Amino acid sequence: MVTGALVLALGVSAAEHSDRSVVKGSKAYELDSCVEPTPVMRKLHPTFIKHQRDITVHQGIRGAKHSLSGCVDCHAAKDAQGKYMPVNAPGQFCESCHEYAGVEIPCFSCHATTPTGRSGE
Ligand code: HEC
Ligand code: HEC
Ligand code: HEC
Repeated sequence: MVTGALVLALGVSAAEHSDRSVVKGSKAYELDSCVEPTPVMRKLHPTFIKHQRDITVHQGIRGAKHSLSGCVDCHAAKDAQGKYMPVNAPGQFCESCHEYAGVEIPCFSCHATTPTGRSGE
């Protein structure tokens, strides 16, 4: 596990400019594109998520393409035992890049870090 996380963390630093940082074992790994083009996602995902939160929480609209549970659903990876790993665990998709970028997001104290099976809501 530790070795895997290390390899991933290194992979992400290298991926910053060219390669993809999607995590092996996630749905995203099998797909070609995110909900928006990758360069757009890299730059604007915080805006998309915050906008999504506002329309969900204040206007009651759900199931749109920028939902946080949707991100988790597609980007969470399974381990060798087929069990989902939290997206904010060391070396996993959201965390590895945020750690590299020095960003902390306080969202996962409330939001699920693995797919809940309800993201289509
Ligand atoms: C104190 C608990 C709490 C924290 C911390 C929190 N949220 Fe939420 N969030 C909620 C609740 C409760 C809802 C409403 C859940 C629902 O209606 O599905 C929600 C809904 C959302 C939604 C809309 C539903 C979805 O899955 O898209 C988004 C997007 C969202 N939050 C993003 C964030 C982000 C980004 C952060 C961190 C910057 C964050 N939240 C931190 C409690 C929290
Ligand atoms: C249906 C699956 C899916 C969903 C839902 C999804 N993504 Fe993605 N995401 C991908 C794929 C596939 C890629 C890699 C695209 C590529 O290789 O260019 C990606 C790439 C990214 C990247 C760029 C990574 C890099 O290499 O620089 C970010 C950031 C990202 N996603 C964040 C999010 C966030 C935040 C959400 C929720 C708002 C989300 N994604 C929802 C599939 C998804
Ligand atoms: C390719 C690198 C990368 C990936 C992958 C990535 N992020 Fe980020 N994220 C950043 C950077 C850089 C920032 C801070 C800069 C900014 O706000 O634009 C950020 C900021 C955020 C913020 C805003 C924090 C705040 O307090 O303003 C949220 C929310 C967020 N990311 C959610 C996610 C989620 C959820 C995932 C996984 C699905 C994810 N990110 C994956 C690079 C990434």
